[in-house]
Amino acid sequence: MSPRAPEVLVRLAAEAPDRSYPIHIGPSLLARGDMLRSLVGDRNVCLVTNQTIAPLFQSFVFDALHDGGDASRKVTVVELPDGEAHKTLASYERILTAALEDKHERSTVFIALGGGVIGDVTGFAAASFLRGADFIQVPTTLLSQVDSSVGGKTGVNHPMGKNLIGAFHQPIGVIIDTKTLETLPDREYAAGMAEIIKYGLIADAAFFNDLIGHTDALIRRDEALLADVIARCCAIKADVVNRDEREGGVRAILNFGHTFGHAIEKEQGFGVWLHGEAVAAGMAIAVRISAGRGAVEPDAVTALIGFLQAFSLPTEAPSGMGVDAFMSAMQGDKKVQAGKIRYVLLESLGNAFVTPNVDESEIALNL
Ligand SMILES: NC(=O)c1ccc[n+]([C@@H]2O[C@H](COP(=O)([O-])OP(=O)(O)OC[C@H]3O[C@@H](n4cnc5c(N)ncnc54)[C@H](O)[C@@H]3O)[C@@H](O)[C@H]2O)c1
Repeated sequence: MSPRAPEVLVRLAAEAPDRSYPIHIGPSLLARGDMLRSLVGDRNVCLVTNQTIAPLFQSFVFDALHDGGDASRKVTVVELPDGEAHKTLASYERILTAALEDKHERSTVFIALGGGVIGDVTGFAAASFLRGADFIQVPTTLLSQVDSSVGGKTGVNHPMGKNLIGAFHQPIGVIIDTKTLETLPDREYAAGMAEIIKYGLIADAAFFNDLIGHTDALIRRDEALLADVIARCCAIKADVVNRDEREGGVRAILNFGHTFGHAIEKEQGFGVWLHGEAVAAGMAIAVRISAGRGAVEPDAVTALIGFLQAFSLPTEAPSGMGVDAFMSAMQGDKKVQAGKIRYVLLESLGNAFVTPNVDESEIALNL
């Protein structure tokens, strides 16, 4: 991976088949303002963010929207409390109420400024506001930059489970300012890194090896390298989504590590392990199972474990969580189809497949 010029601009057809949208990636894109302005045009805006992110980045969005003295533009700000606990119907309603009270019309553009929680709830509000308004993703966590901001899944949690209410609604553009990563806590950064190495495992062996070779630079948060890495992840995700927008088939490979990861999150209680941490352990389990079948070289397993550990990510099931606990948690997962758990394994490094056929003994051996 050769570090590129300090800015990478990616234009991806991220929705099949009739529309495409740009994903701009690079440092200080928010401060430049022109990308946001070109997506919004002269339209009014409903900006959704949270109390942690607002003091860090909201002024950049204001400056971009009001550049050239455009004070006539109406900008409504909805500042939600921070946290997954607020990815709820109540937050969704709060956004819609604010937009209605300020007399926004369907031409209004919603902007999601924040991590995956803000992106998901804002996208869902936009999907249903006056039967559908445009929205722009400005993701500020590594996880949201490589995963949740691309692909068009939006939604909120319900007391009965995560992400049970939502819609497919693609943004009109994504602006990924890698400078925002400077303030991201280490644990959140590492959680995003788990999703990044996933793309190498499931879709691109050369990318996997590049990431392993650049572990130190990634720990340092090397800016040029990150822009390149994020672009490659977005390209892989966009390619998979293009082929299967609504997860009828190939999109399920993006759940690599997630079947086991969700079981861990559920068993531990949501929020004890970050999602990316649970996925890291889940990927390590899935890779060990794949290696046990001879599909992956032992060297690749060692490289993955070393990479995850370099970011202080877990590589095993939580102590005391045995195969029985995994089986019962996985049976309740919403991705179970016709009673069958859908596992994602590797057929080789860089190639994943979905299968219901994994023996409990294989799982027990590799936790
Ligand atoms: N829609 C999808 O396809 C998809 C995919 C993956 C995950 N998700 C969802 O994404 C959510 C997780 O997203 P997340 O990991 O971004 O969590 P998050 O949105 O909760 O953000 C993590 C924390 O980092 C803070 N933060 C965000 N940006 C910051 C910055 N630049 N500097 C300092 N602090 C910052 C946030 O305020 C929050 O406290 C989950 O709800 C998950 O279900 C959705």
